[in-house]
Parts: sequence; C-alpha cells; structure tokens
Amino acid sequence: MSNPKTMILGTGHAVPDKILSNADLEKMVDTSGRWIQERTGILERRVVEPGTPLSELAVLAGRRALEDAGVDPADVDLIIVGTVTGDMKFPATACFVQAALGASNAAAFDVSAACSGFIYGLQIADALMQNASYRRALVIGGDILTSMVDWEDRDTCILFGDGAGAAVLGPAKEGRGILSTSLRSDGSLAHLLYNPGCGSLNPPTEENVRKKIHTIRMEGREVFRHAVKNMTEILRQVLRQSDLEITDLDMLIPHQANLRIIEAVSKKFGLGSDKVYINVERFGNTSAASIPIALDEASKSGRLGAGDHVGVVAFGAGFAWAAGIIRL
Ligand code: UT7
Repeated sequence: MSNPKTMILGTGHAVPDKILSNADLEKMVDTSGRWIQERTGILERRVVEPGTPLSELAVLAGRRALEDAGVDPADVDLIIVGTVTGDMKFPATACFVQAALGASNAAAFDVSAACSGFIYGLQIADALMQNASYRRALVIGGDILTSMVDWEDRDTCILFGDGAGAAVLGPAKEGRGILSTSLRSDGSLAHLLYNPGCGSLNPPTEENVRKKIHTIRMEGREVFRHAVKNMTEILRQVLRQSDLEITDLDMLIPHQANLRIIEAVSKKFGLGSDKVYINVERFGNTSAASIPIALDEASKSGRLGAGDHVGVVAFGAGFAWAAGIIRL
C-alpha cells in the first residue's frame, strides 16, 4: 500500500426542508407505508420544490464543506460534481457551483456515474491532485432524482429523495487520506436502470414527453441482486488494496438505496449495525449524494473522527459501481 497523497479536510451537506412521508405517498399512488418500510426501510425523504436547480443544494453543501475545512474558495483548484440531474444539459453544474462560490481559480466539470458519482469524483480528484498541480479540490455528489421520477410508477417513485454532499480534499498528512479506490462498470446491463429521455437518442419531442420518456426505468429485483454482489466484491478488493481487514474499519458507509441491500452487504462481512452508517429511513435514495451526506452526518455527530478508517461503497445505473477506503 502506498502512502496516501490526498486527504479529506472537511465535509458538508444540504437537503431540502420539505419532507415527503410514506403517508403522503399513500395519497399519491397505489402503495402502503408498511410495504415501503418493510421492502426498503424508507420512512420519509426530502424533496425540492419542482424547478429547484441542483446547484442550489450543491453550492450550500460545498460552502459548508469549505467552512468545515477552513479553505477559502479562491484556493480551490478543482470542482467536480457527480450527478445525473444537473441544472441543465450544459454547461456543467460544477461551473454554476464555481461561480456561486467565487472559486475563481478552479477547473470545474461534472461526472456522470449515477449513485457512484461521488466515489468516481473522489478518485478522479485524488488522481489529478497526484499528477497535476492541484492542491485543493471540492468534490460534490448531488442529485434531484425527483425531477425525473414518474409519480404514477409505484415501483420507483417511493424510493428517491433529493440532496447534495461535499468533501474538500487537500494534501495528506500523518498517514491519513484516501488509501485506495476502485471504479467498475458494466454497460451491457444499462437497460436494468436508466432514463431514456432527453438525450440525443430521444430528444424531448411532444410525443416523447407524452410517453414519459424522461422518467426513470428500473428492474428493481435485478438491480438489487447485482448491487449486493458487486458492492461485496469491490469492497473486498479495496480492503485488499489497502492491506486492511474488514475488522480494521471503524465504519462502513454504503450507498443508501435500500435497507435490505445494506443489510445483505453488511451480513457478508459480518458487520454489526454499530459499524454501518444508515440514514436511508430519513432521506431515501439520494443517488450521488447519499455517501457524502452520510459521511458528513457521521463526522459532525462524532461517530467518526480524525484517524478513523472508513469504507465507502456504491452501486447504481450504468451499471457503475465503486468503493474506497479512507483514513480520516
Ligand atoms: O441506487 C441504486 C439503484 N436502485 C436500487 O438499488 C434499487 C434496488 N431494488 C430495490 O430496492 C427493490 O427491488 C425495490 C424496493 C425496488 C422493490 O422491492 P422488491 O422486494 O424487489 O419488490 P418487487 O419488485 O419484487 O415487487 C414485489 C411486489 C410486486 O407485486 P406482485 O407482482 O408480487 O403482486 C409489486 O407489484 O410488490 C409490488 N410493489 C409494490 N407494492 C406496494 C412494487 N412496488 C410497490 C409499492 N407499493 N410501492
């Protein structure tokens, strides 16, 4: 294992104030609060007012992370936003974040890796900071998946919430930092979770919009199966790369898609609930935001502190999946 070059200097997150409970969903679609809780673990999620741009949450999360890190926006060299629900097709949401934060010296771009977007961003930032002259990076994971949900599709609309989380990266010290990361993909299974609309394949014609082509399609059971298998394998891989055992981890932060997925992965490693961060009951699946929101909550509540070893692991559309081991 090589010495880490990049460490997390601070974290932040932002979620909308508005709560959409399971009881609210019972009034919107043919479902029951009991089914949602039993099959997903979700009790409520945070949702934006329609038309709210992702950059609004991303800027708040980013600003909070910079304050936490004590880093001036002008000292940020690089801004990466992992998202599939940016403000616009172009420019990158990272550019809106750059302008709003006054990060006048930063390069800015988005990464499209769905629920794995934050860990993808983390590895890219880590690599760029080792090989280019960047000293401070802001990595944000954020999504407003409620902007592409079909509210008449009970298979998907009960799952998602909105939010953004952020981490500021800087040069590592005292053995702390990003110890290892791994990114994987399998596009041959893209049809199991995708949004076909509004890209070059299906432009937003009246007919396409009528066919709701701009909403999420998912084969939930299949996604579930692949998620458990791939999250387990990739977590084993990054542990190996870091020369660590699962028992060396102070906490595992898995992507928060479904409590049953989290429990299945935890069980494979024999991890008790005290070692696994779970907030899916309050936020639902916030896609790229779920890991940085959890990381920030765990740090601010004192469950994680300097020197702790954290595992992060995510799986989502693409399929794209990713994991990392970080010493805080
Ligand atoms: O971020 C990464 C991407 N997403 C995921 O990781 C999601 C992975 N998948 C899942 O979390 C789960 O597969 C779901 C929560 C989406 C579904 O749970 P499931 O246990 O796999 O249910 P199912 O799709 O097998 O459906 C079981 C039954 C079906 O009824 P029948 O055909 O057995 O009569 C569904 O029609 O539950 C029914 N159902 C519902 N009932 C009430 C599906 N959605 C609902 C609902 N309310 N919202």
